[in-house]
Amino acid sequence: MTNNIDLINAYTILEEAENSCKNCCKCALSKTRTKTVFSGGIPNNKLMLIGEAPGYWEDQKGEPFVGRAGQLLDKIFASVGLSRQNDVYICNTLKCRPPDNRNPLLEEKEACREYLDIQINTLKPKIILLCGNIAVQSFLPGAKGITRVRGQWFDGPFGAKMMPIFHPSYLLRNDSRDKGSPKWLMWQDIKEVKRVYASLS
Ligand code: URA
Repeated sequence: MTNNIDLINAYTILEEAENSCKNCCKCALSKTRTKTVFSGGIPNNKLMLIGEAPGYWEDQKGEPFVGRAGQLLDKIFASVGLSRQNDVYICNTLKCRPPDNRNPLLEEKEACREYLDIQINTLKPKIILLCGNIAVQSFLPGAKGITRVRGQWFDGPFGAKMMPIFHPSYLLRNDSRDKGSPKWLMWQDIKEVKRVYASLS
């Protein structure tokens, strides 16, 4: 994405994909969803966060990460001067909420992958954050659990640097900020993300 025309093209492609996603019935989640949740934040070629799937509030509002986990995510980004308004494109492996927030099924992830691929192929973000185990499994099959891989850089699509990070829901369940705690580790990871982000032209 080097000039305004590229950006306009990207917006158009993403808008078309979002519109077709709204009518998607490729898996059974289409029968139980309230709204599809395609993306949030700002389309850009630097930073993309990929979460798991919409929860209750996301399904109601049609926007990703708007519940408690999303509020914590905003604070984590704000701690290093980043925001979804200015810096981050946010999406999920699934665009529809699984009933009772259960883990996505393989067939649901496969059916929905087309949309995620369009998002990545269109924006070609230089940094991709894989937020939680479900996103990690989608890009690093066979990877050890999130606690083993978080904070490390992996090679991603189109030369992206891809880092697994803890899911904010996990941080909400682990309140300690002591050295070595999940929150403390997240703080180290987001500072590293900001360091690389700041070095991008
Ligand atoms: N958790 C996610 O992984 N994504 C959301 O959009 C909300 C909660």
